[in-house]
Amino acid sequence: MKFNSKAVHAGDRKREPGKPIPVATPIYASASFFYDSLETIDKVFAHEVQGYAYSRYDNPTNAALEELVSTLESAHGTLATASGMSALQIALTAALMDRRKHVLAANALYGATVKLLQNVFEPFGTTNSFVDICDLDAVAKAIEADKPGVILMESISNPLLRIGAMDKIAEMARAAGACLMVDNTFASPALVRPLELGAHVVVHSATKYLSGHGDVIGGFVCCDEEHFAPVRTLSRIYGPILGPFECYLSMRGIKTYPLRIERQNANAIAVAAHLERHPKVSRVYFPGLASHPDAETTARLFPKNQYGAMVSFEIRDAGKAEVFAFFDALKMIVPATSLGDVHTMALYPDIASHRDIPAKQRARLGIQPNLVRLSVGIEDIEDILADLDQAFG
Ligand SMILES: Cc1ncc(COP(=O)(O)O)c(C=O)c1O
Repeated sequence: MKFNSKAVHAGDRKREPGKPIPVATPIYASASFFYDSLETIDKVFAHEVQGYAYSRYDNPTNAALEELVSTLESAHGTLATASGMSALQIALTAALMDRRKHVLAANALYGATVKLLQNVFEPFGTTNSFVDICDLDAVAKAIEADKPGVILMESISNPLLRIGAMDKIAEMARAAGACLMVDNTFASPALVRPLELGAHVVVHSATKYLSGHGDVIGGFVCCDEEHFAPVRTLSRIYGPILGPFECYLSMRGIKTYPLRIERQNANAIAVAAHLERHPKVSRVYFPGLASHPDAETTARLFPKNQYGAMVSFEIRDAGKAEVFAFFDALKMIVPATSLGDVHTMALYPDIASHRDIPAKQRARLGIQPNLVRLSVGIEDIEDILADLDQAFG
């Protein structure tokens, strides 16, 4: 099956002779399961037969969603977790268990991911270093110097939308015995599948493109065979699992995800082109523009004319007051924290995703106080452009 068909069919409609087959996997709101003989549950606990015993370990709704996401990300196994952050937490813990406890991270990461590394992993003895992940010489030198157990990057960085050469970094990671972990939230598997490029682990905030409707907080850890076993083992102990109702919502969302992302990608190209010509905009960050610093890597790794649906831009000569005025003037675009939903959303990184990063460090990373991040939705493009234009005043 091809990608769109997999999104519709994978995980669902398991056939069992003589039994009715639901067209959509039901919500198994059951904490535990039993069988007509104790011998069966003994075999389930021993993993001798496939089955369900306790929903912290496994649940049929979760299993259906996990199979679907594994199929989309070309993973051996997937764990659906309670949030994107819990996905990162368990993925990092599992990958570091039998490796040198040093994480070499991209210097442009979601703010809470940086906090997770510095405020949670460091006190437990893990060390971190940060590198410009788009500078391959710098990455090679950092691997040589720091001997990381894990290299962590985002497939499209937040909020300046830089794209690192995941395939080349995967080669370097493998040569050094390190695990390459890619947060694929911003790109999503319709655009790039890091495991196919040599990464070991992919994490997602399922809250974003995959679920897509702003009604779920969730995450995924998708792994090759070697890395999935410790993730599942840890999950059975920690229990950071996604509830079956959220699994159901996510699965329902993913069925239309390829259609949504196609429309969002096309709308984003039009928004970026419009903003690049706009007199009130001094700079646009979008991987599809010739001016983008990673245009060559994007052309090599991403499908033609699909650059994701995130567009960042700087409002000309604007300070905080002017940026606030722009947000307050928006009529249709939703000024809420998140991305990847069906509706277009605007976020001000200085007060939201990158709020806890000191102003000087933000400036060093190129995040200016007049930067706005847009997540382009599926609305009619004329309405998106008209709302932006009227908000510029
Ligand atoms: C790239 C990225 N990774 C991880 C997360 C965390 O996801 P969640 O909010 O679902 O915990 C986010 C949230 O915005 C994100 O943007």
